[in-house]
Amino acid sequence: MAMYPDLKGKTAIITGGGKRAGLGFAMAVRLAQEGVNIVLADLGDAQASPAPTQEMQALAAELQGAGVQALPLVCDMLDAAAVQAMVDTAVAHFGRIDILVNNAGVGYLMKPIVEMTVQEWDTVLGVNLRGVFLATQAVARHMIAHGGGGRIVNIASQAAKSGFPNASAYTASKHGLVGLTRVAAIELGKHRINVNAICPNHVTTGLGAWQNAYFAEQAGVSLDDYLAAMRSRIPLGRPGLQSDTANACAYLCSEQSQYMTGEAMNVSGGEEYH
Ligand SMILES: NC(=O)c1ccc[n+]([C@@H]2O[C@H](COP(=O)([O-])OP(=O)(O)OC[C@H]3O[C@@H](n4cnc5c(N)ncnc54)[C@H](O)[C@@H]3O)[C@@H](O)[C@H]2O)c1
Repeated sequence: MAMYPDLKGKTAIITGGGKRAGLGFAMAVRLAQEGVNIVLADLGDAQASPAPTQEMQALAAELQGAGVQALPLVCDMLDAAAVQAMVDTAVAHFGRIDILVNNAGVGYLMKPIVEMTVQEWDTVLGVNLRGVFLATQAVARHMIAHGGGGRIVNIASQAAKSGFPNASAYTASKHGLVGLTRVAAIELGKHRINVNAICPNHVTTGLGAWQNAYFAEQAGVSLDDYLAAMRSRIPLGRPGLQSDTANACAYLCSEQSQYMTGEAMNVSGGEEYH
């Protein structure tokens, strides 16, 4: 249901938006409901392949079916030139970019600090933090030159506020992402570019399902028992849904949130409160 008429006709880049069960595509669907044109950026089938995956093409076709324009683009967030090229292509195609959702993230590399390799650390920080810096820089330069303001939404995590075992790189990257959000908000406020982060707790995406299995195994409990314990910690009694984050994203992209910037907004059913 469309709630924010000011969003109609705008264009958003969503990084890591090419997985059906992921938060990125949920945000794409939600913004498309508001009439926002969408650039779905994600990894291709092979790192060197310029062609969007079949899944990305199918998701873009669904968005088009909902009445907006959608452009799937291959982009490895570890590759600075590829990020700039993706933004340039998006600008050439749509004329302007109004919204950047920095959603691409790596959460699979879980290990105790004493076992983690430097390469694993660099991959997580490279996608989750350096990649956000690269996309923010490229899009902010475009937004400033265009002069129309804009919105940047960074998908952080509950791991931006609390620590989790075997997730040193992930937790450090998400804490760092809140810091990057605050600095970007300060620097870009004069250009009417609002920058906020969303901190979801668990959502059973592809990544979320993998994390559940991993943490249940680490704790030596069944998946059902692990999920029951998770629900019991959450005041609202359930884990997050993709739509919870997508609704928060639409709000942060809309004029209704025009006086909010530099925030790290919890969407956690009350589990995280600082
Ligand atoms: N699922 C959760 O419980 C949860 C909770 C809090 C925050 N998050 C965050 O939400 C975001 C989306 O995660 P998700 O749960 O939808 O998982 P997901 O694995 O479905 O989505 C992550 C996306 O990032 C993409 N990606 C990974 N490396 C990339 C790279 N080098 N270049 C470009 N794209 C790359 C993946 O292809 C994928 O589409 C992530 O930043 C994650 O940290 C997830």
